[in-house]
Amino acid sequence: MDKIVIEGGVPLRGEVVVSGAKNAALPALAAALLAEGDHRVRNVPDLADVRTMGRLLGHMGCAFERADRHEVAIRVPASTLPEAPYELVKTMRASVVVLGPLLARLGKARVSLPGGCAIGARPIDQHLKGLAALGAEIELEHGYVEATARGGRLRGAHFTFDGVTVTGTENVMMAAALAEGATVLRNCAREPEVVDLAVALRSMGARIEGDGTDEIRIQGVERLRPLSHLVIPDRIEAGTLLVAGALPGNDVTVRGCVPEHLEALVEKLRQVGATVTPVPSGLRVVGDGRPRPLDVRTAPFPGFPTDMQAQMMVLLTVADGSSVVAETVFENRYMHVQELVRLGADISVEGKRAVVKGVPSLSGAPVMASDLRASAALVLAGLLAHGTTEVLRVYHLDRGYERLEERLLPLGARIRRTKA
Ligand code: UD1
Repeated sequence: MDKIVIEGGVPLRGEVVVSGAKNAALPALAAALLAEGDHRVRNVPDLADVRTMGRLLGHMGCAFERADRHEVAIRVPASTLPEAPYELVKTMRASVVVLGPLLARLGKARVSLPGGCAIGARPIDQHLKGLAALGAEIELEHGYVEATARGGRLRGAHFTFDGVTVTGTENVMMAAALAEGATVLRNCAREPEVVDLAVALRSMGARIEGDGTDEIRIQGVERLRPLSHLVIPDRIEAGTLLVAGALPGNDVTVRGCVPEHLEALVEKLRQVGATVTPVPSGLRVVGDGRPRPLDVRTAPFPGFPTDMQAQMMVLLTVADGSSVVAETVFENRYMHVQELVRLGADISVEGKRAVVKGVPSLSGAPVMASDLRASAALVLAGLLAHGTTEVLRVYHLDRGYERLEERLLPLGARIRRTKA
């Protein structure tokens, strides 16, 4: 098992280019199941989660290969095994996005329930209710969702999500693309990844409107053609690197990001006192002195992303005063807090709120990554802390960041990966 060792307190300066978005690539790869033939997806990050999706598609009988490091070729046969087994789903909850496409094209699907997750219960009831509204008969048996399209094909319907769900919106939107007739989905997620999936589906011949708003309208078609798609840049990776730039004394330019996807974060970075300026195809952030304290509340897009909460908290640990962080999207998403406390941060958690009392500096120590975004936060904290920080259980980080240490090295970070 690898660990990342960081000598912190070194100024970061320079440019870094962001990768393709994991959370847009995964549903795009699942969308290939909607059509027989040869699919191409470009700007796919080289990550553990993408390899898991590749194994999942392989299990179903698809040929999945990397045409080059960031391009994936998928051949989908006429008939695929409509099954996602527990062994794969348990390592990646997002595997559940194969449910909609399988059900829509093959009329049936058997997908393992994802089970508990380190950041809260994360049910999939809204995915299932949406698919049921389209005419799926759903049973839960032996830990699996067994779904069948009544009459062999899903039918368009009106459905309102009880709460905003990103992969739930994606699953039901993909299913509706091949359903008979019109579907209207309300209270949809507006995340850029949902829009990117709609772009991918339209390139396959799907008739979708309204993505990016809370109401998506889909006119089902009989057949879709293979996908050729370029995945959007990863706003969470970009955001993580922007927070690195906002740490005191740093000056980082993140190229290849989409500033409109990062507005809520950029606003907060400006409020803490960092200077953020647009540059050609990117953003430059300069961290000037001790950050100012502020309150952050996570919310669905365009609100402040829950996937940036842990990284933002790192910045606030050294703020000149007290900040309050409110996590409203997931329960139990404060597992990084105890590790940050080991580095000298002063944070207390009460339910959904964390109170962060700024301290002058952090000091390096061994810390344990608990989930994907928490591990990114620990790397940032290691860059900030004086002395040596070792981040253990790096496999969490590798699920969502393509060799984060190699992004940070050219900026001057003293960071290396070794065997734990
Ligand atoms: C996606 C992202 C993840 C991000 C999250 C929120 C992917 C692959 N992952 O996860 O990185 O943190 O959005 O921005 O895109 N919920 C229900 N019932 C459901 C579905 C969700 O109650 O059927 C709840 C969840 O428990 C959670 C909230 O809704 O509290 C939001 O979850 P959701 O948007 O579904 O997250 P994911 O799509 O799993």
